[in-house]
Amino acid sequence: MRTQVGIVGAGPAGLMLSHLLHLEGIDSVILENRSRDYIESRIRAGLIEQWANDLLIDTGVGARMQREGMFHNGVYFGFGRALHYLNFRDLIGKGVTIYGQQEIVKDLIHRRLSDSGQILFEAADVSVHDLAGNPSIRFRHDGKEGEVVCDFIGGCDGFHGICRPSIPAAVLTAYDREYPFGWVGILSESPPPEHELIYAYHERGFALYTMRSSTLARLYLQCAPDDEIENWPDARIWEELHARLDGTRALAEGMMLQRGITAMRSFVVEPMQYGRLFLAGDSAHIQPPTGAKGMNLALADVKVLSRALVAFYRSGRSDLLEQYSATCLRRVWKAQRFSWWMTQLFHLDPSHNSFDRKRQMAELDYVTSSEAAMRSVAENYVGLPVEG
Ligand code: FAD
Ligand code: PHB
Repeated sequence: MRTQVGIVGAGPAGLMLSHLLHLEGIDSVILENRSRDYIESRIRAGLIEQWANDLLIDTGVGARMQREGMFHNGVYFGFGRALHYLNFRDLIGKGVTIYGQQEIVKDLIHRRLSDSGQILFEAADVSVHDLAGNPSIRFRHDGKEGEVVCDFIGGCDGFHGICRPSIPAAVLTAYDREYPFGWVGILSESPPPEHELIYAYHERGFALYTMRSSTLARLYLQCAPDDEIENWPDARIWEELHARLDGTRALAEGMMLQRGITAMRSFVVEPMQYGRLFLAGDSAHIQPPTGAKGMNLALADVKVLSRALVAFYRSGRSDLLEQYSATCLRRVWKAQRFSWWMTQLFHLDPSHNSFDRKRQMAELDYVTSSEAAMRSVAENYVGLPVEG
């Protein structure tokens, strides 16, 4: 099989890359090792930055999000038994949207298939070859060996994929940081305690109260890094969620539809390209979810990559492709910084003492009372501009 761009992975990065290329008349084939059912029901991120919301609408895949998504003007920071509202709309004229990542995945798959796009689900043993020469992707599908020969490869296969490890190790530098905590996350059939998100700082640990709809709450609690979900029976989860909300709002309990533990890590690999392979999204970088940046960064990378590929096919320009990694990394590092900053501001770190807790409270007080500080949070939270 021959195509212009071979893409490994049908997450937000791979699907959006294929969609953006199609709109510009560039062919691609996506190889995904999971089933369509599996990736359409995998619950992950839920917060979409303003520019990413606009991208989905402008490229014709935002209609369901416009009907079913929840548009928020700001967020609450909870501490000292009170909620403090940061109104992004008033501060910088922008907001964010709550719409599940798996809904974006469904919308993109539906659109790619309606546009006769090729996605091979359940492709096994995917491997990439001749990255600096004539690239190809080999795989097994329906028990048969297959090969996609292409001009370029989009490495959109997430943190545990095969693209990043296929680059010679000497070419890459990894920047890594693990955190001494994780998150217990649940999806509950109950209304969230507020219309907008609450990030809560509490002496028992961080908690986040978000949602997927007005009747479906998505709730998270800081836990130990090596904790297991078996240690978190329903009663303990609800007790902690009530305690960390600290009487600021009433919290309705509901049936738990899903529960799990997420590890917290910051990781960036540089450069994000090698020969004709371009890494995008989680395959190149991950961050703790406190800043809600993962899926948004994946979309930003492929926006930059698609523009560079369009410039190559339209006018033979390769400068944007050469600058791909540097262009993405400027924004990636700012998102890493913001995710780290939100994380250290809200979590109890076992190495902290009473001085650190006073310092955190002072910083929370500052960022919810200084207009300059609130604007800075707003600008980063709704998403910095995407270059390229
Ligand atoms: P992915 O969505 O991981 O997509 C990669 C795709 O490649 C997958 O479909 C995978 O099946 C496929 N693949 C992998 N290996 C291969 C292979 N060898 N061959 C073929 N295909 C392959 N972010 C937030 O902002 N907030 C959150 O609350 C949040 N929660 C998360 C919870 C979990 C459990 C995880 C794992 C991530 C979470 N994230 C969250 C991060 C966010 O979901 C990711 O940043 C986002 O999915 C990145 O998109 P992507 O397309 O780069 O990668
Ligand atoms: C979510 O809605 O799942 C969500 C929102 C904001 C975050 C993390 C997760 O920071």
